[in-house]
Amino acid sequence: MSGILEQNILSLNEEGLLADVLGFETNEVARTAQGALLHTHSGHEFIDFTSGIAVHACGHNHPEVVQAIVQQAREVLHVSDIMRHPPQLELADWMRRRFAEILPGDPFTFLLLNSGSESIDAAVKLALRATGRSRLAAFEGAFHGRTILATALSRSKTIHWQSCSALVDLLRSNIYHAPAPRCSGCQNRSSAPCCLQGMEEYLKQHGADTAAIVFEAQQGEGGYVPLEPAMAQELQKMARKYGVLLIADEIQTGWGRTGKWFGFEYLGIEPDIVVFGKAVGGGLPLAGVAARKPLMDQWLPGEHGTTFGGNPLSCAAGLAALTIMHRDGLVERAAVLGEAVRKRLSAMKGSCGIADVRGRGLMIGIELRDANGKPDYAACDAVKLRARDKGLLLLTCGAKIGSAHADNSCLRVLPALNVSEEMLWKGIEILESALRGD
Ligand SMILES: Cc1ncc(COP(=O)(O)O)c(C=O)c1O
Repeated sequence: MSGILEQNILSLNEEGLLADVLGFETNEVARTAQGALLHTHSGHEFIDFTSGIAVHACGHNHPEVVQAIVQQAREVLHVSDIMRHPPQLELADWMRRRFAEILPGDPFTFLLLNSGSESIDAAVKLALRATGRSRLAAFEGAFHGRTILATALSRSKTIHWQSCSALVDLLRSNIYHAPAPRCSGCQNRSSAPCCLQGMEEYLKQHGADTAAIVFEAQQGEGGYVPLEPAMAQELQKMARKYGVLLIADEIQTGWGRTGKWFGFEYLGIEPDIVVFGKAVGGGLPLAGVAARKPLMDQWLPGEHGTTFGGNPLSCAAGLAALTIMHRDGLVERAAVLGEAVRKRLSAMKGSCGIADVRGRGLMIGIELRDANGKPDYAACDAVKLRARDKGLLLLTCGAKIGSAHADNSCLRVLPALNVSEEMLWKGIEILESALRGD
């Protein structure tokens, strides 16, 4: 790009053309990206520990993913629900084989859509259809997306719903939020975990009307808190007892991020519906719903639809990315590297405000608390900015709903699953230095 065009982009960036509601992390403008590195129009280079919010499992612009997109672009760009196309069928076939290994039994069938939020809506619609019920349950600290229904199901940051609470609260009159699943810090650990107590009480009263419990195997926005297997197994027992479907929101945890294909694999449970997104599109917009065929077939043709969902380019890119992950053992690699990163960062626990280092695979949270033991959101932001100044892109997370039980403040470590060890440890060194305030 010539100097003049470069200047033009930088001045356009100053003109308020794009809605600030998205809360862009920086005023930088992306120029090129490759692997773990992102270059911007103002000439900066960043190691990317955000992976486009847990999307780039194979790093930015993996050549095989780009090649798959280019090849597909020459064949079919878009047909919508008019007819099926090869990338959709090939991707679904690949996924069905993976699901058969993880959850043997009736084969899985896939509804391919555009975004995680949209897929959460669809999964809930399917559960309502299949059960004929009208209520839902989820957890405090949960984040399930940005549509109004996904917003009502979520409870991780008050700012996400307060401006539209008049409608969200109407939906929430049919949605129960059990206390945040924080097993390690649970007040009621000596009896039953309080999230389960809450859920049990709700289901005793409303179990016959409840279609589904929606959960994250490791809360994302809520603060990178993994569920405990014992808690998840109790939850499943409860769901089965009341005929309630279990919907796993694997949008962030899915497709290898946690060191297994899906986060629920750590829990010894079998969700009825799995919602996926982010990494599945290899960097293009793709998400969807997986359910066994007899359950998915409860829907009549035409009860749901999409213009762009399961787009040929996204499916081709996604299939290329998943194939690379499988071929190169990136899921197992995420487990090994994640363990090493957690071990190294855990050595800093108790210093620099670090209260906890947690997570599974390469979905790692570093929780900061202040001297009074309160979530230190300001410190997280300060570390993130210091890291950025040193060339490392980080995100934060953590529930912020005014509940001492749910709230926390975390930095997230989310590199690509194929990040080179050199780049990984270089990024970790920057992070450590930013934590120390160097
Ligand atoms: C666990 C979880 N669910 C749902 C969503 C919403 O997905 P999308 O942003 O693709 O709509 C996200 C996005 O961050 C997520 O992390």
